[in-house]
Amino acid sequence: LAFSARTESISTMANDEENVGNVKRLIAKVFELSLQATVPDEADVEPIVAASTVGRFGDYQCNNAMGLFSKLKGKGSGQFKGPPAVGQAIMKNLPQTEMIESCSVAGPGFVNVVLSNKWMSKSIQKMLRDGIDTWAPKLSIKRAVVDFSSPNIAKEMHVGHLRSTIIGDTIARMLEFSHVDVLRRNHVGDWGTQFGMLIEHLFEKFPNIEAVNETAIGDLQAFYKASKQRFDDDSEFKERAQKAVVRLQGGEKRYRDAWAQICAISRREFDSVYGRLKVELEEKGESFYNPFIPSVIEGLTNQGLVEESEGARVIFLEGFNIPLIVVKSDGGYNYASTDLTALWYRLNEEKVEWIIYVTDVGQQQHFEMVFKAAKIAGWLPTEANKYPRTSHVGFGLVLGEDGKRFRTRSTEVVRLVDLLDEAKSRSKAVLEEREKDKDWTKEEIDQTAEAVGYGAVKYADLKNNRLTNYTFNFDQMLNDKGNTAVYLLYAHARICSIIRKSGKDVEELKKTGILSLEHQDERVLGLHLLRFSEIVEEACTNLLPNILCEYLYNLSENFSKFYSNCQVIGSAEETSRLLLCEATAMVMRKCFFLLGITPVYKI
Ligand code: ARG
Repeated sequence: LAFSARTESISTMANDEENVGNVKRLIAKVFELSLQATVPDEADVEPIVAASTVGRFGDYQCNNAMGLFSKLKGKGSGQFKGPPAVGQAIMKNLPQTEMIESCSVAGPGFVNVVLSNKWMSKSIQKMLRDGIDTWAPKLSIKRAVVDFSSPNIAKEMHVGHLRSTIIGDTIARMLEFSHVDVLRRNHVGDWGTQFGMLIEHLFEKFPNIEAVNETAIGDLQAFYKASKQRFDDDSEFKERAQKAVVRLQGGEKRYRDAWAQICAISRREFDSVYGRLKVELEEKGESFYNPFIPSVIEGLTNQGLVEESEGARVIFLEGFNIPLIVVKSDGGYNYASTDLTALWYRLNEEKVEWIIYVTDVGQQQHFEMVFKAAKIAGWLPTEANKYPRTSHVGFGLVLGEDGKRFRTRSTEVVRLVDLLDEAKSRSKAVLEEREKDKDWTKEEIDQTAEAVGYGAVKYADLKNNRLTNYTFNFDQMLNDKGNTAVYLLYAHARICSIIRKSGKDVEELKKTGILSLEHQDERVLGLHLLRFSEIVEEACTNLLPNILCEYLYNLSENFSKFYSNCQVIGSAEETSRLLLCEATAMVMRKCFFLLGITPVYKI
């Protein structure tokens, strides 16, 4: 009796009007029901389901048998002879579902599932009709902060900030696609003691500060260097600079104005990078949280967490050999005071469930300490993976070809804008070399150069596991062969041109045509398409964009194989195969979108 109820719930789950989304989760759901029937006395056995390696015994595999067998045996149960018998029982108890074509048990009880071709075709066709957004992952949270990019005012915006910008934007995009409300936060360093010397130097150079325009200050990094020089060389200046910090923080108008002016110049420089990369960010810099710091520290102090140590006020944390300094010995606040307060603000004022910080791995300890303090204070649950939750997304260094920290040319500073412009001009040169300017408009050349150039920089960064260092190399990233954005963008354009060449109205085909997956290579491609949702979810929840890159690259490889073995235009299967082309192009475009890459439609 219970069984038929389950069968019903499964068939409604995968019925016509329901969107497919995460296939792995649907399969896991089926196994969950089977496990309940197989071992009704075992509460909440989590189904362990994984996609199988292509060409193996099935499409998905359930790996519960072995673990379950030892668990039962441990309890003295003799219900099963061995893991394979558990596997057999799990298979036998699988409810009826149109998703599954056949099952088998292999080795020590692995239950292999072959998806039904009919169900696969139908699901892809539904996506073609209803749009790719129906394949968006469903996450359990409503709102998240992604704290990324976050350069420092008047200091160099370096390749580390570029990595943060690229990785953070992709994470934000994946979350947004999954219907999470994302607060894209630029936590700019706009409130350090460096402002004392900058402001004093500004007053010295321009006694009539009201009349100074931004261009007069010129290169802010040179300006920073010069004021640092003054600070180090002249003790009288140093004293004035220290007083300036106090006057600025006290809110004195002349000082606030000078500060605002310096910030505005930096912001212009940052925006020229964001504009090129089409990255949106909302600036809520360190200064924003400043007014909240005293009460947050007071709260922690009242909880008995803050102690006096060598004149400073600190929080001692188990497992760390240094304490977290929350008030410096001179009474000033620091990076940690601001981050604790920003965390408090995000949790309490912005009611965010997941806060994600994207910085180089060098800052890992800082974040671990801040998170730990928040847990002790009871702001965050102590259990991992429970919400509200914080995550530090660390990344490695960008290296030059010499294997050292990346620098452009001989100057010590990397101007990010120059770097991006070079990527664009190099890809433009390639287009011109191929004489694209003969039949493309100037605008088309420019847009394609931009899409390819900036896309190459982004993809070269994102395709690596972010924790590893990566070597910045224009020739490599702009290569049209191999795992590069150029290759992928061209692959997409080629699919679009196949569809165009067919002369068919693909929008019309979506409504009337039938897609089927008869040929082996059609099926492999179709299965890969159907895995899109589970992959995005995996990349997003594990904060690993490289998983999505790998998926995209394999998609393109699967398409190539299909295209070389299955004739599309003029074949008996033309309609079905054009639909498969279109579905591939749609999924590719969504991948590009999530990676912040602009697709191109012709090459
Ligand atoms: N401004 C810092 C830096 O350039 C990054 C800030 C990261 N965000 C944060 N909430 N601490 O290294």
